[in-house]
This record gives sequence, structure tokens and C-alpha cells, in this order.
Amino acid sequence: MSLPTARILGIETSCDETAAAVVSDGRVIHSSAVASQIDLHAEYGGVFPELASREHVKAIYAIVEQALNQSHLNIRDMDAIAVTQGPGLAGSLVVGMNMAKGLALAAQKPLIGINHLEGHIYSSWLYPADTSPHQPPRFPLLTLIVSGGHSELILVKDHLDYERLGGTLDDAAGEAFDKVARLLDLPYPGGPSIQKASQNGNTNAFAFPRAMLEGTWDFSFSGVKTAVLRTVESLQSQGKPLPIADLAASFQAAVVDVLVEKTIMAAEAYDVHEIIIAGGVSANKRLREKMLSQSTLPVHIPPLSLCTDNAAMIAGAAYFHYIKEDFSPMDIDVKPTWPLS
Ligand code: KG4
Ligand code: ZN
Repeated sequence: MSLPTARILGIETSCDETAAAVVSDGRVIHSSAVASQIDLHAEYGGVFPELASREHVKAIYAIVEQALNQSHLNIRDMDAIAVTQGPGLAGSLVVGMNMAKGLALAAQKPLIGINHLEGHIYSSWLYPADTSPHQPPRFPLLTLIVSGGHSELILVKDHLDYERLGGTLDDAAGEAFDKVARLLDLPYPGGPSIQKASQNGNTNAFAFPRAMLEGTWDFSFSGVKTAVLRTVESLQSQGKPLPIADLAASFQAAVVDVLVEKTIMAAEAYDVHEIIIAGGVSANKRLREKMLSQSTLPVHIPPLSLCTDNAAMIAGAAYFHYIKEDFSPMDIDVKPTWPLS
């Protein structure tokens, strides 16, 4: 039986990217527009929530228009409007939500609220309209979501059927990258800065801890962050210059080792067909290479543009809700769909 066709406009404003995209059938990207606020927040060394919401307000209309124009489609051609409902910054989420509600009401389209993490998972199904499709991931699969706010291991048994195996007990992986970058005086966002600084560094220069938290699928990165802080303090108190490349490389290796080892252990324990890595930290070169080289199972990692926040993933995930659930065009009260929390 073939699945119904549907074109969905997705909107994402959960953090510091204002994004809109048009995706059909949960897979085909017709357009994906992203306005990043990174340069603005870099001045503060992290996301400044008040500024973020104000920037979303400024950018949202043009971004939605851009996504529709680039897709050569009209709002009337859409079957539904999807929007990130959470988790994220409250003041930022509400901007996307209000835009989506306004559009849904005006165009009489169903409105679908999407969990941001679910969006990251579904980024692995997507491909641009002008390329040929890859095989969709096969269930059951294991997803490692590593972003600025999350480090989660999620077993996906089928479409929309999730079991959260574990998550971060303290700092998320991306948060640890951002905080350690700040310690080393590297620019925000910390992940790409640490990756760049690591290029000529020795991964064994410092033996930073790898918290395996045996017997759980949880993560903890505050220990490694504190270990970097203590090392920096000790070097500074001795008047020594900071070996930034070695510190960055040793830190990155410690985080990647834990992420790769635990993900592969969980994939074996749950006997899955495939591994997916998603979220901003999955853009990390060392993580991508190590996961691919160590796993005996197929590993799906989205292209860089789909690892960080975007709206195509929101429109993509929404399709699988759209074909399974009832959405009335007049119902703009977004139903709480929080299958992952
Ligand atoms: O998924 P994302 O764009 O936004 C959230 O939902 O949080 O993830 C942002 C996070 C930031 O912490 C950033 O430092 C990290 O992803 N990140 C990276 C890399 N690129 C982005 N971390 C490590 N290596 C990278 N290349
Ligand atoms: Zn994200």
C-alpha cells in the first residue's frame, strides 16, 4: 500500500536559528531556509535568550517567504503547517508557534506541533529534491542525539515509536564543547572552534576522564569539563602558556570516546539494524569518523546542513504524524506531542 502524499511547511525557532522549509512525504526537501544568529550571540559567548526571540521576530516572516519562494509553491499547496513545539527557549518557541498558528488559521491548514528531538531523528530520512533518494533507515534503530541541550540515546522501534534509553545527567555534549571553548578563549559556538583548534593537537596530551556510567545509558560531561578547568588553572598558576591545540584535542577525544562506545554498546544490547547520529554535535568530524570506523552496523549521519537546527527536519517528522493522526484545519491548539520526554 502506498503512503499518502503530503507537502508540509515546517517552522523552527527553538534556539538561535530561524528556519522554514518545505518538505514532501517526510523525505524530499523542496526548500530549506535558515537565518543563523550565531554572529550576534558570539559576542556574549552563548545564546542570549532575550536577543534570540527579538531576532526571530525580525527574521521569521522573510524566512517563511523565502522557503515558499524557493520551493516554487504557495501556502495553499501545503497540506499542513508544522512547528517546533519544544523543547527550547520559551520566548523563541512562541515566535515560531505564533507564525505557524497565523498561517494555519489564515490558510485553513492543519497545524502539527513537533518535538525538536524528533525532528533531529527524522533528518536522516531527508534528501534534496534534485538528488536521488538514499535508502530510508531501517527499524529498529538507535539514535544518538547530541546537541547544545541534549545527549540522548533513543531506541526507535518504528515510526513515532520511541524508547528513551538514557540522557545527560548534567551538561549536554554540545554544552560541554561550548563551555570548554570559553575556558580556552575560543569563539562561540564551541564545537566547531574546538574541532578546528584540535587539528594540530595531541589527543593523548592530557588524560581527561571518560565517564562511562556503567549499567546505565546515561551520559555525564561535567567531570571532563571540570578536569579541563583544573588543568587550565594549574598551568596558569605555574605561569605556563596554555597548549590550546593539545587541550582541545584531548577534550574532544574524551567526549567522542564516550559517545561512540556507549552508542555501540547500546546498539548491540538492543540488537538494532542501524545507528543514526543527529544534532549539532554530529557535525563533529572526529565523532563521525570514529562512529563509522568502529561500528559494524550501518551508521547514518545527515549532511552538515541537516545536523544543526533546520526546519526541514520538523516538516519531515510532521509527515509521519500527519499520515497517522487526525488533524483538523480549525484546531490551532497544538496538541502536546512529546513522545520523547
Ligand atoms: O542541534 P544544534 O544546532 O542546536 C541545539 O538544538 O542545541 O546544536 C548546537 C550545538 C552547539 O553546542 C555546538 O557547539 C555544537 O552543536 N556543534 C558542534 C559542532 N558543530 C556544532 N560540536 C562539536 N563539533 C562540531 N563540529
Ligand atoms: Zn537541535
